[in-house]
Amino acid sequence: MKKRMSLPTLLGMKKESRPITMLTAYNFWQARLADEAGADMLLVGDSLGMVEHGFPGTLPVTMEMMITHCSAVMRAQPAAFVVGDMPFMSYEACDLDAVTNAGRMVKESGVDAVKIEGGIDRVDRISAIVKAGVAVVGHIGLTPQSVTLLGGYRVQGKDEAGARKLLRDALAIQDAGAFCLVLECVPDGVAEVISKKLRIPTIGIGAGPGCDGQVLVFHDVVTLYGSFKPRFVKRYLDGGDRIREGLKGYVEEVRSGVFPDDDHSFAADPAVRAALEDSGL
Ligand code: KIV
Repeated sequence: MKKRMSLPTLLGMKKESRPITMLTAYNFWQARLADEAGADMLLVGDSLGMVEHGFPGTLPVTMEMMITHCSAVMRAQPAAFVVGDMPFMSYEACDLDAVTNAGRMVKESGVDAVKIEGGIDRVDRISAIVKAGVAVVGHIGLTPQSVTLLGGYRVQGKDEAGARKLLRDALAIQDAGAFCLVLECVPDGVAEVISKKLRIPTIGIGAGPGCDGQVLVFHDVVTLYGSFKPRFVKRYLDGGDRIREGLKGYVEEVRSGVFPDDDHSFAADPAVRAALEDSGL
């Protein structure tokens, strides 16, 4: 059995300039596949609101949904280090909410760490959760839970003031005790400088090659969700087309009587069959 990924190993990977690979996963089979592919980290992202539940964004996602999905992922017994996303309004109001809900996530599902969106405004929450004994991943740049305030899904830190703010946020999150930081939709050079100035690893999504690791959404990598492809997504498989083809084949074969054939049926004992026919019932 593969050895489980640990937090010190992830920190060591940054020191040794070994890229960290992270994929989202939301259920048992996705976790198995991503783990078998060798991902170092799995993120049970609140993006599940969109890709698994069909909501237009992440705001409707609840603690109950997150715990259900995180638990399914953990039942796959992945070797990867698993991070569960804290959903919108599960940590913003006060430290007590943040600690209670982070504790629930870890205790009820078994994930290794939680992820929290936001910069300097969130350092109290991060520090409270870490003091309670739970490992935290930060998340700055495009933070989808604040999409209304950000004015839409757009690249962050493009001008000097924005880039400086991102760096200040990153350093504050590190000082608050987070062990890792997601940078989403940040210009490559800005993400590279931030990554160099931090002791903790950065994981980029739409943040260029200068980050210490990369994350993509499972459904984007294998093309299972929607037709819109953000610039930062690279598709590695036409999964939707392949699955559609397979399902269509099944429907057509049932309609035409090709399936099930003898190879996919259990042969009845001819005597049993004859007795049944003559049973008078
Ligand atoms: O919810 C999610 O999948 C995320 C990643 C895109 C980083 O937060």
